[in-house]
Amino acid sequence: MKKQKRYLVTAALPYANGGIHLGHLAGAYLPADIYVRYRRQCGDDVLFICGSDEHGVPITLGARKEGIPPQQFVDKYHELMKKSFADFGISFDIYSRTSLPLHHQTAQDFFLNLYNKKIFIEETTQQYYDEQEQLFLADRYLQGTCPRCGFEKAYGDQCEQCGSSLSPRDLIRPISILSGKPPVVRETRHWYLPLQRFEAWLHQWILQEHAADWKPNVLGQCKSWLDSGLQPRAMTRDLDWGVPVPLEDAAGKVLYVWFDAPIGYISATKQLRPNDWELYWKDADTQLIHFIGKDNIVFHCIIFPVLLKAHGDFILPAQVPANEFLNLEGEKLSTSRNWAIWLHEYLHDLPDRKDELRYVLTALMPESSDSDFTWKEYQARINNELVAVLGNYVNRALVLCKKYCGLQVPAANVLTESDLKTLREVQALPMQMAAHIEKFRFRDALNTMMEIARVGNRYLAETEPWKEDDPQRVAAILNTALQIVGCLAVTAEPFLPETAARIRSMLNWHQPCSPQQVKLPLLPEAHRLNEPFLLFRQFEDEEVERQRKKLYARQNNPASAVKTMPTCSYEDFEKLQLRVGTVIAAQRVPKAEKLLCLTVDLGSEKRTVVAGIAHQFEPDQVVGRQVCVVANLAPRTIRGIESQGMILTAEGPDGQLSLVQPGEPVPPGAFIR
Ligand code: 2FM
Ligand code: ZN
Repeated sequence: MKKQKRYLVTAALPYANGGIHLGHLAGAYLPADIYVRYRRQCGDDVLFICGSDEHGVPITLGARKEGIPPQQFVDKYHELMKKSFADFGISFDIYSRTSLPLHHQTAQDFFLNLYNKKIFIEETTQQYYDEQEQLFLADRYLQGTCPRCGFEKAYGDQCEQCGSSLSPRDLIRPISILSGKPPVVRETRHWYLPLQRFEAWLHQWILQEHAADWKPNVLGQCKSWLDSGLQPRAMTRDLDWGVPVPLEDAAGKVLYVWFDAPIGYISATKQLRPNDWELYWKDADTQLIHFIGKDNIVFHCIIFPVLLKAHGDFILPAQVPANEFLNLEGEKLSTSRNWAIWLHEYLHDLPDRKDELRYVLTALMPESSDSDFTWKEYQARINNELVAVLGNYVNRALVLCKKYCGLQVPAANVLTESDLKTLREVQALPMQMAAHIEKFRFRDALNTMMEIARVGNRYLAETEPWKEDDPQRVAAILNTALQIVGCLAVTAEPFLPETAARIRSMLNWHQPCSPQQVKLPLLPEAHRLNEPFLLFRQFEDEEVERQRKKLYARQNNPASAVKTMPTCSYEDFEKLQLRVGTVIAAQRVPKAEKLLCLTVDLGSEKRTVVAGIAHQFEPDQVVGRQVCVVANLAPRTIRGIESQGMILTAEGPDGQLSLVQPGEPVPPGAFIR
């Protein structure tokens, strides 16, 4: 029997300081999920570990900004992120968090182990201090000019403009971001990891031993770090939020977040498998694989491995398949500017399009260079690929089978050389796809899966079973076509799990099968099938526009749009007649997804108003509501209906509309002044 392989797969612990956005997904969580689903299909023993990173300056600053204690802050975002991942179907075996006592204990034990081995260098140095706030200013508490590129808002640990890694003393004209004042210098004591002592070993381990199997973008970054020489790095900070340094004379000091966060992978494994977690971390037969974004490469390829090596009991990562960044509509993603598509909002707006998002993000995955997500591209990929190629093929094969042979797998008595050639062609593709996944080439793997549907479409176009007179030939063609559908059910599983399940339900075929096990024919003759249904729907232009509008509208500086509007004179304003109306009837406008036709009572008269709110309100949700009406707007014909006014809505930061209405009920027709 084949020996089961063992894998520990981690995905970067995201800071619990916001939501999950598409950049996170494409960078780390989706490739990890595809990989893990594939491994599970192969019958391997795999644990998929993740959780919230709840320490560090991103948390303390975020909590300060919201005016709540850090624990309350991380509790809120941990739940939001955990839910987004679960709703989207990222199949973690555990989603833990680093504020748990088990994690604190694990990180402290790890620190003490290295401390007792005398790995750390204890050193007192001069560091920046905010006298007003009475606080040492670590990392992102400092801003100043980048010595490399001159960017004026570089942080104490990194310049976001040129990507350089900095230390606070590198900044030109630093200021404390808490008080806005220049800091003073004070002495403080910390424990440093002497990375330079591990340089030769890192060189050998990364640039020699992994030269052939790590991704070029990962090797490139490691090489550049090693070429510029490693410096000791402090593993402790003067902060009051984090894992306390477990030493007697270290009050007010916590472990550096990049010391404790990767140890979070270990504590989460302990939490999940209290009795045999060591098998996954200490047995040389386990493959440890870290999925991360490119900004985390140094921590996972250099610092954490040095910690593991120095400890001595742990295995080292076999692979760190880091991705580059996903941009959005041609611009760098920015959470501070709210230039991002948040997963929880996507799931709210498009709850039944999870596999569509998985598909598009995989097709655009920034595997070797940055890539760009646009709503137009999203639409094109759905309409031209999922609908036109995959969905179309599966549907045609099943509908033709039902029509000519009934709901069962027909007999393949007369296979021609061309049928056999097609079957051989298809047969080779799952193995190719698996090889791509094993090399972390998810775009190529997805393309190979789609190639199976393309071959299927070509096959049906060439054999034209609908023109065939010989029922035996029709049966053989449709048998072949169904075998290709079976192959798609297996190969779609890592990328499009819901779609794969739906294909399997139509095929009424539930036997586990890995891509390597695909041996056509998969479906026996006379096997019963279920009724076919469509797998995908077109994504309409209006929806693209709605999503784009929402994205642009809620950027944090919509002020720019507001500022550029000319002022309006009082005389102009006076021309508007604003009145309160009561909606007394509402119905959808046929073939217009966004429009409702309202009948609004203005007291003395009733008006017909066509309003673009149907994507958010059902007709019965607005009947009886009071609304503000622009009553003297010139009538306009919309979709053949004369609209005699306009109702006012307010748009929330996420593009959600709310009806503007008086605070108290007033008689219909009342003037708004
Ligand atoms: O960059 C980040 O969002 C970090 N919180 C990632 C940590 S990964 C691991 F070390 F936990
Ligand atoms: Zn810079």
